Amino acid sequence: MRIDVLTIFPEYLAGPLDVSLLGRAREQGLLDVRLHDLREWATDRHRTVDDAPYGGGAGMVMRADVWTAAAEAVWNDASAGARLPDPPDDPAADEVRFRAGGERPRTVLLTPRGRPLDQRLVEDLAAEDRLVLCCGRYEGIDERVHETVATDEVSIGDYVLWGGEVAALVVVEAVSRLVPGIMGNAESPHDESFTSGLLEYPQYTRPAELRGRGIPDVLTSGDHGRVAAWRREQAQALTRARRPDLLPPEEGPTGDV
Ligand code: 6GU
Repeated sequence: MRIDVLTIFPEYLAGPLDVSLLGRAREQGLLDVRLHDLREWATDRHRTVDDAPYGGGAGMVMRADVWTAAAEAVWNDASAGARLPDPPDDPAADEVRFRAGGERPRTVLLTPRGRPLDQRLVEDLAAEDRLVLCCGRYEGIDERVHETVATDEVSIGDYVLWGGEVAALVVVEAVSRLVPGIMGNAESPHDESFTSGLLEYPQYTRPAELRGRGIPDVLTSGDHGRVAAWRREQAQALTRARRPDLLPPEEGPTGDV
């Protein structure tokens, strides 16, 4: 899978992408993440990517022309598919141009007004060959970028960050875990929280006793059936206590809903 990230702070993302399983997946070529500095598509000497808002008010707005040029260049990258066709003769035909012979890749604009990210959306994004992640900064991005560049708008929760960079990292982490071959243990993602629909059961490893605290006896019983049942009960109890919203709607006493 290839993921292109457009940001004014590529160096902010470079470190985290190199470490751990994510770094290894990139080394092994299972995951191709490319960082692009949005300023490369600015056209002035100062490499400006923002300007004052029409209508006035505080803050700056990221420019649609810079975002459009950057997105087109990344979509049409020769190393990822067909080249952009020659510009149309009609100067009015200024809509954002897609790759020749194909759809533009899923292009996710990270914004607090986007669809809240959950495992379902992660699975949907992980099914793509390519993703383009657009990180906004400043007070916002020109609305025409939302309309013509983004295929998706995604938020990582109900709070406000300085920009979309951390959210993009969240998407890369969540999506890359589902890319075939990336996790050492192919079974591992499947009984985890949100895939099973339940929170994870408690886990333990050595030492068997730590400052007077032991571990549940069932885990050393050697009875795999009892262990599995205990884990299921624990996962259900934890989910009921902390995230009842994740549980399926309860049936009435007669089985009626
Ligand atoms: Cl995607 N961007 C910003 N700036 N803030 C956020 C967010 C994204 N998701 C939650 N808060």
